[in-house]
Amino acid sequence: MLDTLLTIFEKRSPSQLKKFQALPKQLGQQYSSHVLNYLDKYVPYWESLGLDLESVIDAYLKMVDQYMYYQVKFYKHGKYPYEKDPEGTLQKTRELYENPHDMKAYMAGLSLSLILWKSHYLITSFFRECILQHKESINDYLEVGVGHGFYFSEAFSLLNQGSRKHALDISPVSLQMTGHLMEYFHENAAYESIQADFLQFNKKKEQFDYIVMGEVLEHTERPDLFFEKTRQLLRPEGKLFFSTCVNCPMIDHLYRYKTVDGIREMAETSNLRIVAERIIPAEDLPMSEVVKNKITINYAALAVKDK
Ligand SMILES: C[S@@+](CC[C@H](N)C(=O)[O-])C[C@H]1O[C@@H](n2cnc3c(N)ncnc32)[C@H](O)[C@@H]1O
Repeated sequence: MLDTLLTIFEKRSPSQLKKFQALPKQLGQQYSSHVLNYLDKYVPYWESLGLDLESVIDAYLKMVDQYMYYQVKFYKHGKYPYEKDPEGTLQKTRELYENPHDMKAYMAGLSLSLILWKSHYLITSFFRECILQHKESINDYLEVGVGHGFYFSEAFSLLNQGSRKHALDISPVSLQMTGHLMEYFHENAAYESIQADFLQFNKKKEQFDYIVMGEVLEHTERPDLFFEKTRQLLRPEGKLFFSTCVNCPMIDHLYRYKTVDGIREMAETSNLRIVAERIIPAEDLPMSEVVKNKITINYAALAVKDK
């Protein structure tokens, strides 16, 4: 599988191939084994959805092209598309979430980034560590913005069998993809699938021990309300795992965090105390240069409810 992936990248994007080939040296043997396991596991799954590896790579490259396009505009004007045209961008975002073809391709591309981007690989590893560390206290698990469903499926494998799992997303396409993934890897898995805007989600008195919200905050106009809502839904000893990014323009990124401190302050204003975090710039440069040049920083944290 790896050889096929390398051959396709060599043909389609030598620059992406070069970046990918530099990773084993930086991330070590564990990363290389992870890539092989990931491809062995997920290529047959994608094929079961009618997507061969080449089309998943195409979707990934399309996502990267789009990201570069908005990055160039961001460097020129210093703004996300939403900051220039809120209504038009919101409309495009809604259309994307509803569009089976485009959303499926976007999520397939994003799921490949979990092995192709250093930041996404490290965040996935951190996600696993946090779940394993706290699994004994997780009876009710809620994931907000499940997207491709990879984190949800991973959590399903790691959590105790008796725990209740809930998958929420605003996009019907994301929930459908998660459904396929769950059916493929965890036949007849018991979990609740909830299609809702998280801010409208209203479950009488239901609370959760662990909420996961991966790459959702930047997709919303008011991430502060998302923090507030998660705090309300967490039990007193509950925990929130979240990831987001600083200066990461995309068509569906509505909120721009300008600094890592900006993320921390927003969480803390909602009385969520960060107890562990990962800060991973998209380029391997000193942090001062990353900040000065507004290079994307990926961020993930585990937060607890402050008393
Ligand atoms: C970029 S994907 C993240 C997928 C995955 N969690 C990850 O970390 O890779 C963002 C997901 O959030 C969902 N989303 C965006 N706004 C939402 C909202 N207001 N309520 C619930 N889900 C939302 C989108 O439909 C999409 O599936």
